[in-house]
Amino acid sequence: MLDHSISAKAIRAAAAALARGDLVAMPTETVYGLAADATNDQAVKKIFAAKGRPSDHPLIVHVAKDADLARWIKLLPTDAKKLMDKFWPGPLTFILKKSAHISAVVTGCQDTVGLRCPAHPVAQALLAEFAKVGSGIVAAPSANKYGHVSPTSAKHVRDEFGAAIHAAGITLLDGGVCAVGIESTIVDFSRGTPVLLRPGAISADEIFAVIGVMPLGRVAAIENTPRVAGDKAAHYAPRTPLRLLPAELVFTEVDAMLASGKRVAVLAFTAKPKVKPSAVGVGVRNARPLLWVQAPAHSADYARDLYANLRTLDAAGTAVILVEAPPVGVAWDAVNDRLRRAAVGLEK
Ligand code: TXA
Ligand code: MG
Repeated sequence: MLDHSISAKAIRAAAAALARGDLVAMPTETVYGLAADATNDQAVKKIFAAKGRPSDHPLIVHVAKDADLARWIKLLPTDAKKLMDKFWPGPLTFILKKSAHISAVVTGCQDTVGLRCPAHPVAQALLAEFAKVGSGIVAAPSANKYGHVSPTSAKHVRDEFGAAIHAAGITLLDGGVCAVGIESTIVDFSRGTPVLLRPGAISADEIFAVIGVMPLGRVAAIENTPRVAGDKAAHYAPRTPLRLLPAELVFTEVDAMLASGKRVAVLAFTAKPKVKPSAVGVGVRNARPLLWVQAPAHSADYARDLYANLRTLDAAGTAVILVEAPPVGVAWDAVNDRLRRAAVGLEK
């Protein structure tokens, strides 16, 4: 069912914008994407310009449920097909050998293409409508400035691009808050053995359960090894420096910062502690020195709220954001991956 806030007319207008070669910011179940007709190089170049993204950083191509993949890829390995049958539409992206119909502009000159079928009803409706009036496939990275935190609501997209939304002629479809909240899992099927390039809501264990093969590279991915052009360690980052700390050090650090009169923003599992008046100068206390966001205990909830929480903490304008490190384990792989990259800092 289509999100009730978006009319069929708005979907038709957005599909027409894509067909004209303009950009559409669309909701997906992971994060908002900045979409262009994947078969129109001039349109795809507008994405790189709007994001400030290097041209060698490949884009994910989004397809409808009934898309004819044979047109876009050379070969569909059996295991990839099994995973598509199980998880599409959904937050799983496949890297596959591309056909000649996919341009080098989309893939950053690689001979592979990232393909994903998004589950959000608005994205589905847009792709179905665009199939009637155009190619039916859209290249769409997350709708944020390069390296910054991905948007999980329409407001975040407006915050990212501001007046440029109108200047760049971007049509924004408001599909509410994204249910998953972090980007899709990416599995590379272009080199034989599947390789996990980016952990996401669909875990390596779930992939193993379907194909009986554990994707390689999970450990490497966790350790932030750059695996593809543009896949730098520093990514998904707020503008305020972020530090990832074990729980006990968060408290020590907060105390030390408040005692020295510094303001501090915290994302932690525990509730905001009472600030001891003795630890804080009166002037500092009046300036509300401590912004404390309590994160959900369950990994899926934590992921859904993560980028909104980072934006809230970033907006406080403190010298640093302290984040209590989540547990280690498969359920937390994707969240830990994003936090580690955020902690590396925003690329200048
Ligand atoms: O959930 C998502 O995947 C979101 C929504 C909008 O669908 N999209 C997204 O796109 O996160 P983006 O551009 O922010 O991240 C795409 C990632 C990059 O790390 C890029 O390097 C990788 O996908 N990628 C895309 N095509 C690739 C290829 N041919 N080979 C290797 N990596 C590729
Ligand atoms: Mg992105």
